[in-house]
Amino acid sequence: MPTPKPTSRFIFLTITLLLSLTFLTSKATEDSDDIEELIALDEEQEQQEHGGTHHPKPPSEAEVLSRAQRIVLELNNDNTQMAIDGNEFVLILGYAPWCVRSAELMPRFAEAAGSLNELKNPVLMAKIDAERYPKVASNLGIKGYPTLLLFVNSTSQAYTGGFSAEEMVIWLRKKTGTPVVRVDSIDEANDFVKKHSMFAAGLFDKFEGPDYEEFVKAATTDNEIQFVETSSPRIANILYPDVKSTNLFFGIVKSEPERYTSYEDAFEKDRILQFLNDNKFPLVTFLTEVNSAKVYSSDKLQVYVFAEADDFKKLLEPFQDAARKFKSKIMFVFIDIKDDNLAKPFLTLFGLEESEDTLVTAFDYKSGAKYLLESDPTPARIEEFCSRLLKGILPPFYKSQAIPDNKGADILTVVGKTFDDLILRSSKNIILEIHTPWCLTCETTSKQVEKLAKHFKGLENVVFARIDASVNEHPKLEVDDYPTLLFYPGSNKSNPIKMPTKSSAKDLAILINKHLKAEAETQDMAKDEL
Ligand SMILES: *[C@@H]1O[C@H](CO)[C@@H](O)[C@H](O)[C@H]1NC(C)=O
Ligand SMILES: *[C@@H]1O[C@H](CO)[C@@H](O)[C@H](O)[C@H]1NC(C)=O
Repeated sequence: MPTPKPTSRFIFLTITLLLSLTFLTSKATEDSDDIEELIALDEEQEQQEHGGTHHPKPPSEAEVLSRAQRIVLELNNDNTQMAIDGNEFVLILGYAPWCVRSAELMPRFAEAAGSLNELKNPVLMAKIDAERYPKVASNLGIKGYPTLLLFVNSTSQAYTGGFSAEEMVIWLRKKTGTPVVRVDSIDEANDFVKKHSMFAAGLFDKFEGPDYEEFVKAATTDNEIQFVETSSPRIANILYPDVKSTNLFFGIVKSEPERYTSYEDAFEKDRILQFLNDNKFPLVTFLTEVNSAKVYSSDKLQVYVFAEADDFKKLLEPFQDAARKFKSKIMFVFIDIKDDNLAKPFLTLFGLEESEDTLVTAFDYKSGAKYLLESDPTPARIEEFCSRLLKGILPPFYKSQAIPDNKGADILTVVGKTFDDLILRSSKNIILEIHTPWCLTCETTSKQVEKLAKHFKGLENVVFARIDASVNEHPKLEVDDYPTLLFYPGSNKSNPIKMPTKSSAKDLAILINKHLKAEAETQDMAKDEL
């Protein structure tokens, strides 16, 4: 049997093992077992590479996974620094045994380690139980669980990739010297297409020059899309059928009805990245816990459809049609209305958390505006809604309770829909109490306002009002503190005066009288001027 050539990693691990045996004679067993396994694995691979061992049948999936798990080095007090200093690239997963998200990530991390190992990627994948080794973890910069950190020549950087095994592999290859995969044969191209659900393909007659350099810069900067390149038009046509050019082409490929999108712009890094950002999502994205962070971070206009999964089946096609029309400008997202975790926070924004009907909504994250399609979503209405959203002429949605009956009330209840009429267009002086059900001191203020309303009862030009800001909105009602008391002078509603909420009813009454007097003087002066 040929003697395996020792790799640098092999030597490093051997040293680590020897050191841990020397210094940890009593408690070395557990920790060094992993390293022994690792070495055994490395040896096994070396042997395979040299044709030393035969595998009569391919290993099962479980075998592959358990093998992959052994490729992850378990860090402890003694081997961490050496692992970091002895390797150009180390990806460390900081976890806690009780943490559910750590537990979910662990098998994907191991699977990624296995794939990277097969690809002969130089990264060392390691994990540390941050609860068992808190000092080491804190020195590494691990503050929560799970944390992923990439050390490059002993300097750490945050992990910015996705959390599936495939996404981890893509991100790590980008950061460890393989931002672009090159395919040189028809077979490699077919294999590549089979293995990747999304990729960005480039055809260059030569792998050099300004266009190519920008392409590589984009591949390196992007965090989630696998780039692939070729110089052969025939191979390019396997990656992306109907490549029109024979010397320069770039396009994105996805596993969905709108599979191919070609790039028509100049080869500049930022434009390429923008193109990928605009086109990386499918026509309609089904929101899940896994992709939600990615979806929320998109800066495009977004149309969200809330429906039961069965009902949405009928709507999928109209929404895909709309998505084609507004491609790269509006993002379309479907949320299962029965999925409380995902749907409720959005429905609450519209005061529709009890709704079971299909809802079509939209968000403009730049302006913070939200929109609601307030009729049945027919294909024509969906298209009009999107078109007006894009033109910026869709009226924003403001939450409002139903209009209440205020007959005989000392204090008017104002809702979003009546704010204009009862406050802004009224000629009276208004004292408005703004409250929410969850604010602790709101009740005290409410009682004060009730006393004041009784005290000022009979004064024609004074109105007391209150609004529940948790279920009512108005563009002119911008309050960040509850409770808030505002005095709106009758003659000018554009600048309400904020009143203290912690004063006694008596002090508030004095203050209101002062404001009323000032307002009366303003009105007298206005009359004199006429
Ligand atoms: C890490 O350091 C080595 C030796 O100094 C150097 O050759 C290599 O380029 C460095 N790696 C990175 C990614 O900077
Ligand atoms: C109302 O008050 C604002 C701010 O003090 C002022 O700019 C505006 O001109 C006033 N409007 C009227 C009609 O007096």
